Amino acid sequence: MIYDIINSFLKKTDPEVAHNLAIRILKNNFLPINKFIKKPEKILSSANFGIKFTSPLGLAAGFDKNGEVYNSFFSLGFGSVEVGTITPKPQFGNSKPRVFRLSEDRAIINRLGFPNDGVEIIKKRLINNKAEGILGINIGPNRENSEKIEDYINLFNQFKEIANYITINISSPNTEGLRNFHKTEKLKTLLLEINNANKTNKIPILIKVSPDLQEEDTEGFCQILVEQKVDGVILTNTTNTNRNNLINMNKSEKGGLSGFPLFKLSNEKIKKFYSLIGDKLTIIGVGGIFDGETAYEKIKCGASLLQLYTSLVFEGPFIASKINQELSYYLKKDGFKNISDAVGIYNK
Ligand SMILES: Cc1cc2nc3c(=O)[nH]c(=O)nc-3n(C[C@H](O)[C@H](O)[C@H](O)COP(=O)(O)O)c2cc1C
Repeated sequence: MIYDIINSFLKKTDPEVAHNLAIRILKNNFLPINKFIKKPEKILSSANFGIKFTSPLGLAAGFDKNGEVYNSFFSLGFGSVEVGTITPKPQFGNSKPRVFRLSEDRAIINRLGFPNDGVEIIKKRLINNKAEGILGINIGPNRENSEKIEDYINLFNQFKEIANYITINISSPNTEGLRNFHKTEKLKTLLLEINNANKTNKIPILIKVSPDLQEEDTEGFCQILVEQKVDGVILTNTTNTNRNNLINMNKSEKGGLSGFPLFKLSNEKIKKFYSLIGDKLTIIGVGGIFDGETAYEKIKCGASLLQLYTSLVFEGPFIASKINQELSYYLKKDGFKNISDAVGIYNK
């Protein structure tokens, strides 16, 4: 009841104000979360890039940008939380307003541009608050630094002993030039340097990919990932496309589109990547997951792990627990003993 009231209030408030309020509520443990949450069933547990996940469902990057509330999300049933995107120096991001809720479309458009507290503050915060689950750290360059690889390496070195995995974000549409790392030569140079920095630690490395990667560039892109022994790909970030069928008047706002209108587009990417390199690395499916059915669809397309963001905004804090239960139900109904057995069945 109290959750419904808070949720409907947050949905009527400016999206960024609501987000900051939600962070504050979670940070101060105002709500007795644990009382309502069921543990994920065993059928959902799986091992990926050397790490055991009790639930496939993770919180996508962007919600806990500053690493303040990840332990609350583990309590809410998320198997992993990806904090960030974190840049070397603190930055404010683009001018406000820069987040738009498109309720009728079950979507969000954002052009935040990586506002965050920067590596120094966030690193201290993470060290002082031990993660009670799998903690991914998503890194990206400062807007004003043209030497973007330098920023990635600096961040990688700072976080390689703290994170369970590190995500190299090359796909936000709101930082100029970032998506150029989808070009094979640039990607290769970046990954060679990352691998060089990772020689002693061998921490799993994931790449977060744009849904706007062109079909004809996908094979070359995948080849580099395999050559450079990347552990996983996150498919996908937000899109610059798909505006035509939207209803809400915010549809023309500049920025990345997430939520339901991204669902099919990201699934197509998952299927394509799975058919090309699904046996060589882990695919994390993200984009428009709202319930057990949409989560299951991504698994069948080829994702071993999942993430969400937008549905948390629309559906509230129990979304992970609900999806865990529904997903277990669908897997059992189809006769699967473990989630891993359902991965990529569309391609088999
Ligand atoms: C408000 C907002 C901020 C985001 N910030 C980041 C970010 O900082 N880094 C990142 O890699 N992805 C970011 N994302 C993208 C999400 O992590 C996710 O890839 C995308 O929203 C698709 O998932 P969804 O449809 O479940 O939201 C953000 C998304 C939203 C809606």
